[in-house]
Amino acid sequence: MHPVTICPSILSGDFSALGSECRALAEAGSDWVHVDVMDGHFVPNLTFGPQMCAVLRPHIQGTMDVHLMIAPVDPYVEAYAKSGADILSAHIEAGPHVHRTLQAIRGTGCKAGLAINPGTGLDAVAHLLDDIDLVNVMGVNPGFGGQKLIPATIAKVRQLRAMIADRPIRIQVDGGVNARTIHALASAGADLLVAGAAVFEGGPEAYRRNIESLRATAEGVLA
Ligand code: DX5
Ligand code: ZN
Repeated sequence: MHPVTICPSILSGDFSALGSECRALAEAGSDWVHVDVMDGHFVPNLTFGPQMCAVLRPHIQGTMDVHLMIAPVDPYVEAYAKSGADILSAHIEAGPHVHRTLQAIRGTGCKAGLAINPGTGLDAVAHLLDDIDLVNVMGVNPGFGGQKLIPATIAKVRQLRAMIADRPIRIQVDGGVNARTIHALASAGADLLVAGAAVFEGGPEAYRRNIESLRATAEGVLA
């Protein structure tokens, strides 16, 4: 099993106070914030533009991980990179030229993530392994937090881990990660576990406890 990072998804935070939510995550010991960008077209919800990412950046400690659920992607890569993202993930389903998108992302200096929906197989990923730093395996159909993990995700992660072999590519699972599912996902080979509802439950005073217990459960300490 790989060391696990919990990636809190700010989508489940209080939208009226996102700066202080990011600071509360840092105070809770998290050095990662996952930002879900939705366009109301590729997914049926609307969230953060690049300007919002830019104003949040100073409140984020460590990695700003921007998950682009938008189509087209290419016209916005530069703006999100300039907003201070460390990682930009684009969906394989968002257009016909994902290879070009991944090159554009790396060209900005950001790490490149490839996100794949539950209905998408791993075949296409095999041709992109030299062009990515992480794969975001969606555990739910993207658009909303608080959904239930699609169980087939676990086998998909296991297969992807074998496909990646010893390449330095991280496997992120996004959607439906909680105390009940995280150990199976980490055991299958996921090392970046996005969690929205499971981190933000209980408000800021619970964030540290939620994150630490998710990590411990993932690694089998509490499983
Ligand atoms: C779903 C988003 C996820 C979501 C995860 O479209 O990409 O990042 O916020 O939320 P939970 O952990 O609540 O399933
Ligand atoms: Zn996400």
